[in-house]
Amino acid sequence: MAAKDKVVLAYSGGLDTSVCIKWLQANKNLDVVAVVGDVGQEHDGLDQIREKALRMGAVDSRVIDMREDFADHYLTKAIAANAMYENKYPLVSALSRPAIVQYLVNIAHEVGAKYIAHGCTGKGNDQVRFESSITMLDPDLTIIAPVREWEMKTRSDEIDYAKEHGVEIKATKASPYSIDDNLWGRAIECGVLEDPWNEPPCDIYTMTVDPEAAPDKPEYVEIGFKQGVPSSLNGQEMSLLKLVETMNVIAGRNGYGRIDMVENRMVGVKSRECYEAPAALALIKAHKALEDLCLEREVLHYKLSIEQSWADAVYRGQWFGPLKEAFDAFMHATQKCLTGTVRAKFYKGSCTIVGNKSAYSLYDYTLATYDAADQFNHKAAAGFIELTSLSAKTWAANRRREGAQTSLTDSKPQHSCAE
Ligand code: ARG
Repeated sequence: MAAKDKVVLAYSGGLDTSVCIKWLQANKNLDVVAVVGDVGQEHDGLDQIREKALRMGAVDSRVIDMREDFADHYLTKAIAANAMYENKYPLVSALSRPAIVQYLVNIAHEVGAKYIAHGCTGKGNDQVRFESSITMLDPDLTIIAPVREWEMKTRSDEIDYAKEHGVEIKATKASPYSIDDNLWGRAIECGVLEDPWNEPPCDIYTMTVDPEAAPDKPEYVEIGFKQGVPSSLNGQEMSLLKLVETMNVIAGRNGYGRIDMVENRMVGVKSRECYEAPAALALIKAHKALEDLCLEREVLHYKLSIEQSWADAVYRGQWFGPLKEAFDAFMHATQKCLTGTVRAKFYKGSCTIVGNKSAYSLYDYTLATYDAADQFNHKAAAGFIELTSLSAKTWAANRRREGAQTSLTDSKPQHSCAE
């Protein structure tokens, strides 16, 4: 009998991807290589998940610790870009997908697989990220998305299939939420959250305490940056992985890092999303503060618009794309002198930056002060104002001569909505 073709499956151990193993064997006649990526998610044992895949008939199953790589090659770039989709979401899931895909593609090459499969639904963003990343790394691989293909609609359909085909199901009651998490935070969707009027129940959060229950005393942390990368906490040097883990604990125990938003998905759907990303939010906030101190004004202002575009590109699955690569080159150039220390104060759900210093600081006391040390040339301001407003002055004189209104307050505003 000829050997079967292989498929590399992104495996999480949950119901969807466990059913995928059986389905790929039965419906596509493929040998399944199940790959479990450790990106710092919560779990009850990754080896058990690996063994479960083998019991389900996978010919090979591997757990890969991707955490260091994820921190050093993905989170560093997200921090440099102060990455926040729609100004709120630090791209938790969007960052992990390309990181996982890189391993899936390498393993596909190693085992000679022509196929890669994932367990994403047809309605979310993650399918787009998986597939565009795979295509950009190896356009010859064929992608299979069983959940999009099979006829099962609900969780209970899948449970029926699982029972029929001997797929193990956890005895514990399934969470009503869809959760995706990693080092950079946790995304929580579905259940009661689908009504944007409902306040998120406290029990959806695991990385952050309720701000009301957080300690009554503030906690201060000094974050050291080297060329834009967080590299020490309270003077102690550590890897970015360790630093993010530690920061998740510190910010989390002070109730900082929760996000509740209505988000625009790629597929055109608005969805209600809750997140907790304590380290991500704190580190980006600290990083921005250091940039305020060290980046020249024109660079800082230009960077703000590129940051939006960077976040959009990564949200849309363009991690390996040429535009994002070009953005990274710009970001990298801006980070060369971003070395310094930022002091953050955590208190009952808040994080405030209360100090920053750097050898590359462009803050000049003698220019900024109103005291006797002032070196600023006040007289030069008059000429500056004359020239900077000359164009508008010419315009205003013309309008007055021609008798036209220059004041907006008299003109009736145009409304596009019904009055
Ligand atoms: N909406 C977020 C994003 O698109 C989170 C997705 C989380 N995925 C999940 N399977 N719950 O990045």
